[in-house]
Amino acid sequence: MPDPLRLGIAGLGTVGIGVVKIVQAHADLIAARAGRPVVISAVSARDRTKNRDADLSGYAWEVDPVALARRADVDVFVEVMGGSEGAARAATEAAIAAGKDVVTANKALLAHHGQALAESAEAAGRVIRFEAAVAGGIPVIKTLTEGLAGNRITRVMGVMNGTCNYILTRMESAGLPYETVFEEARQLGYLEADPTLDVGGIDAGHKLSLLASIAFGTRVSFDAVELEGIERVSIDDIRLAADMGLKIKLLGVAQMTGRGLEQRMSPCLVPADSPLGQLPGGTNMVVLEGDSVGQIVLRGAGAGQGPTASAVMGDVIDLARGVRMPTFGRPATTLDAAIAAKATAPAEHYLRMTLQDKPGALAKIATVLGESGISINRMRQYGHADATAPVLIVTHKTTRDSIDRALAGFAATGVMVGEPVALRIEPV
Ligand code: NAP
Ligand code: HSE
Repeated sequence: MPDPLRLGIAGLGTVGIGVVKIVQAHADLIAARAGRPVVISAVSARDRTKNRDADLSGYAWEVDPVALARRADVDVFVEVMGGSEGAARAATEAAIAAGKDVVTANKALLAHHGQALAESAEAAGRVIRFEAAVAGGIPVIKTLTEGLAGNRITRVMGVMNGTCNYILTRMESAGLPYETVFEEARQLGYLEADPTLDVGGIDAGHKLSLLASIAFGTRVSFDAVELEGIERVSIDDIRLAADMGLKIKLLGVAQMTGRGLEQRMSPCLVPADSPLGQLPGGTNMVVLEGDSVGQIVLRGAGAGQGPTASAVMGDVIDLARGVRMPTFGRPATTLDAAIAAKATAPAEHYLRMTLQDKPGALAKIATVLGESGISINRMRQYGHADATAPVLIVTHKTTRDSIDRALAGFAATGVMVGEPVALRIEPV
């Protein structure tokens, strides 16, 4: 039997213990598939006394993940600690410098330092793999870098944060406001330690920036992702959107346009009967479009111990088999600088507003839209008991600039009650 591939696992939380469990439970299966055994040499976490729901007695313990990364009996450094700086970054850099391959689930680390890490790994003849960092158990990195390698990718989009999808679908099914469901998500342990990473769209933005790099051959440019979270999505919008046959999703879209690379992660409307519209609870979905293949839809668990460890192990077994590939699908030094598109592609928009119920109010709104170059596609005014009228307008395709001009114009009409809401309707 050839020599085993020896792992050093830094981080023994949800994902790290999931990896230990798979290595232990499927040792024979893995050896048969990889052509050699995969074993764990050493592990590291902060607190050695913690009960971790796995037998770790056969592995050396390192207090310092950097020391783990440098061990002579480690071939692959598995980084599952998290965080874009600190131990995760230091240990990953140390692993590359010590000549180890790296498998990580850490999207924050790669979104911020992926280019530098990939360049140093490739200069040293080392490999960084990160399937688990994007959409948990869904093999989207492999699909993009391998299965679709012969395509010019035209668009990548998806729901990549399970917590936000849980919150939005639960708001809809239970008719509950954002604040109540956010609290439920906290009780259920769904939220990251810093919840803004989830609900602010940052975690999903990290993932989108990694997919965009592979899809469009550009350097990871997380700072250029237009980010908007779900904190301001109201139950009213969820109900009224449903009435128009639409669902609200925290949707990431990346596409290369004539104006540059467009990357946005924001609450968008999608048709309720589309695969994205029907995506339930904490599930993730990634939609990939290529010039030859057309549209591919991948759906599955975006988080959790089993699914995320499954993705880590897919990478580990590839390394055991000798499959080696540049981090972002082509040598990092050949990736182009990402020129951010200054404007997003035109789309239909949903506008919700409350108007004073008096003669000429709607006419003023229609005038502002006309002056902003926006044409109305559909419109509804809802029944009301008081002197204010809830109005919903779906526009024809228009730009965000025009929508912003109209929103500014609405404010000057004197007929608005409260702030209007504008959401993009993404063609899917
Ligand atoms: P977690 O449950 O919080 O576990 C983190 C582990 O890292 C813990 O064992 C912790 O040690 C250890 N750790 C943290 N800082 C350390 C340090 N300075 N030195 C040594 N060990 C340290 O996190 P997780 O959910 O497993 O996530 C790990 C990574 O996977 C993150 O990058 C996350 O974004 C990514 N990820 C997670 C999921 C998921 O479903 N959980 C899905 C996709 C990607 P102690 O246990 O001693 O505190
Ligand atoms: N907080 C993330 C989510 C975990 O909810 O999808 C997986 O990256």
